[in-house]
This record gives sequence, C-alpha cells and structure tokens, in this order.
Amino acid sequence: MKKNKNIYIETYGCQMNFSDSEIVASILTENGYDLTTEISRADIIFVNTCSIREHAEERVRKRLQFFKSLRKKSPGLIIGLLGCMADRTKTALMEEEQLLDLVAGPDAYRHLPQLLGQVGSGQKAIDTILSADETYADITPVRYDSNGISSFISIMRGCENYCSYCVVPSTRGQERSRSAMTIVNETRDLSEKGFREVTLLGQNVNSYCWEEDGEKITFTGLLEKVAAVSPLMRIRFATSHPKDMPDELLHTIARFPNLCKSIHLPVQSGSNHMLGLMNRKYTREVYLDRIRAIREIIPGCALSTDIIAGFCDETEADHQETLSLMEAVGYDAAFMFRYSERPQTLAADTLKDNVPDAVKERRLKEIIDLQQKLSLARNLEVVGKTVGVLIEGRSKRSENQFFGRTSTNKVVVFNKGNSLPGEYVNVMVTGATSATLLGQVVDLKE
Ligand code: SAH
Ligand code: SF4
Ligand code: F3S
Repeated sequence: MKKNKNIYIETYGCQMNFSDSEIVASILTENGYDLTTEISRADIIFVNTCSIREHAEERVRKRLQFFKSLRKKSPGLIIGLLGCMADRTKTALMEEEQLLDLVAGPDAYRHLPQLLGQVGSGQKAIDTILSADETYADITPVRYDSNGISSFISIMRGCENYCSYCVVPSTRGQERSRSAMTIVNETRDLSEKGFREVTLLGQNVNSYCWEEDGEKITFTGLLEKVAAVSPLMRIRFATSHPKDMPDELLHTIARFPNLCKSIHLPVQSGSNHMLGLMNRKYTREVYLDRIRAIREIIPGCALSTDIIAGFCDETEADHQETLSLMEAVGYDAAFMFRYSERPQTLAADTLKDNVPDAVKERRLKEIIDLQQKLSLARNLEVVGKTVGVLIEGRSKRSENQFFGRTSTNKVVVFNKGNSLPGEYVNVMVTGATSATLLGQVVDLKE
C-alpha cells in the first residue's frame, strides 16, 4: 500500500494562527495526508507565520534557513509558508532566496491539496488571494496539539480597524463573521469530547455580527448561546476593542458563571495624543470609563491589556501617561511591546518612527517593571482566599503538582491529591508571585 505523506506544521503568532493550523490539519488529513509532530519524519513542512513585528518575521526566516538545510539532506522535502507573511514575503523568500516550494495565505487553505499537487508535478505553487467571505465555517478543526481540556474557536476573520501601526488588516483582509450555528455546534462537539474551556477568537470580537433565521446575532447574543451549551464549559474570548464594549456584554458576562471573569482590553497607550496617531478611535477617558463599567458590573473581574512603547512622536510625557493609566487600572497582566514599524501600514506611510531604540527599550523596561509590581499586587490580593480552578495538567516544577487556571485567568499550582486534569477543584491560595498562585486543594474526594 502507498504510504501517505507526513506533514509537520510549525505555528508562530497569535491564537488565531494556532486555530488556523488546526483547520489546515483538518483539510490535509481529509485529503490523504498524515500529521506528524516529529520533524525528522516529515515529507512536507508547513510554517504558519506571523508579521506583527519585525522580530516575528526574522524568527521565521531563520527557521526557513534551517529547513532549507534539511532539504539539502533529503531533496524531496517540501517546504511551505502559510499565514500572515505569505503575501508580504513571497517574492523574496520563494524566488530570490529559494527557501520555499509553496506559499498559501490565510484564506487559501482549502486549496492546499491542489497546491501540493502542483508542487508534486515540479512547479512552485502560490495562492495569497484574500477572500471577503471565507470563514472555514464547515471545517471541523483537528485538535492535533491539544491538552484535551482547553481549545479555541475562530468566530470571525480579518480586521478593518486600521490601527495605524498594525499589519493585520493588510495580511488578513476584510472583517467577516462566521455562522453562529456552526460556532455553537463546534462548542457542543468540544464539550461532548470532554473539553472544558473554549476561547472565542477574533481581532475585534465586539463587532461580531451574524443574521440567522431572521435574527440578528451580536457578540453578546453569541456569548449567551455558547454559554448555554454546558455549565461545565468555560468560555473566554479575545480580543475586545475598547471602542465598542457595550454594558450589555458586561451584564451577560456577570450573569453566566461559566463566562470567565477576565477581560483582555488592549489600551496600547495612556496618552490621547498617541491614541489619536494610532487611530484607536477612543480616548484615555473613554477607556477608563469602560474599566469603571467593568469593575461596577463584574466585581472581581481580572483585566489584562496590550501596550506599545515608543510609538511615533511619543514624548516622555506621553510615556508617563501610559504608566499612570496602568496604575489607575491596576492590570492583572499585560503583553508589552516596543514599537516595530511595519510596511504597508498607515504609520509607515505617514508617520516617522522617530523614538530612538535606546529610548524605546528604556520605556518598555519601565512598563514591564511596573506591570510586574501590579501583577504581584493583584495576585497577593487572592492569598488566603479559595478559588475555583480548572485543572489543565501536570506542573512543570514537580511531578506531584498540577496547574490550572481560575476564571480570572490566573495560573494556580497545587499538590495533586486525587484530582484529575479536566476537573474543577477549589483551591485555597497560600502564596503568590507576579506570575503564579500557589495553593492547596480544599475539597479532596473521599
Ligand atoms: N486585534 C487585537 C490584537 C492585535 S495584535 C487588538 O486589536 O488588540 C496584538 C498586539 O500586538 C496589539 O494589541 C499591539 O499591542 C501589538 N502590536 C501590533 N502591531 C504592532 C507593532 N507594529 N509594533 C509593536 N507592537 C504591535
Ligand atoms: Fe490590528 Fe487594530 Fe485590527 Fe487589532 S484592531 S488587529 S491592533 S488593526
Ligand atoms: Fe501575527 Fe497574523 Fe496573528 S500578523 S498576530 S499571526 S493575525
């Protein structure tokens, strides 16, 4: 019997890309390919790539050089590039540097079997056309690299917010929502398979909109439907844009115990001057009003954010406003980046990347140091309290310990006892660092 070709997929970038790799895995396994997690067994290597910062692209380039060296040793090896770098770098990487046999953009994954066929007949294959309506709604992702407990579902694709620094609108195209029914069905399927947590993904989930049987379903409506699938299934979502975060959504989160009490609300900067240049469409005051609403409607809700240090024209005063906003909110966690100019963005075309590297670096360090302090303070508030934890698996530190997460998305490490991954346990928190809570299970089974 002819052996199926083995595909190895390596994924970079955001959760959306990891979710896309599961769609790719599904399309390929349906078409007679096998998946492997060992690169040494691969006949085809796919790299699902990210363009968000220059550093992300550099990492992929280095990896491709390594794959090229593997191809020298096994000449039949096929190397393909997927995802956000596809359109931007196809000419350089494929034609000039001869690193690739195949390039497929985020909306071209259904064509992968044909593209691989083309490569098989000795041609190079490229498809980077973006679509206005592709959502892969009918494809059941293959959860090939999963802990069997938490998973994600893409509910929309693309982005039309055009934040001036951001490459995503150009790499992923028009915003489009996916059918609500297929999202609910996929959640039910995961629940039946024993999954206990799902994260709904989109670049701006608040603008989710779908019409079905004469009913207009907003993100709030979708959350209610997904939350109703099973009380045992926790629901998270990312990312919310502060410019459209209605109270209605917050009331829904407060009402359903399985809607996680943790909101990721990227602020990017605390300065109105920067927010204007970034085209974020809200002010510091509007943002802080949303934080007030969250605190009022969902008491105890955790908050996380994204921050960019050293954007174009950023002064010391602008930077201080970011630090003061961080203090005012008291974030539980943050992803913090130094500004990296990206081609084909509004900022690259119209603004100057004029904050010196050393200044960007120092400001970023001040932001990170402050966040560590804030995270520790937030975590210390939980010490002495009992929290509900969904167990995800064995802790890296010790065989005798599990780790899991609270509804507020805090990682908790505790002695195993006779509990099992996938179970909910109550844990008394006994200690905390800025990254982790330590505790003891309080309701051990007989
Ligand atoms: N759609 C989401 C996430 C986009 S990418 C949102 O709107 O929040 C994740 C984060 O990367 C962004 O929130 C931003 O903080 C950061 N980012 C995006 N482009 C960047 C750039 N050019 N340089 C540095 N950080 C960037
Ligand atoms: Fe980028 Fe802004 Fe869209 Fe987020 S909302 S993906 S930061 S353009
Ligand atoms: Fe990167 Fe594309 Fe996600 S640029 S952050 S992989 S949408």
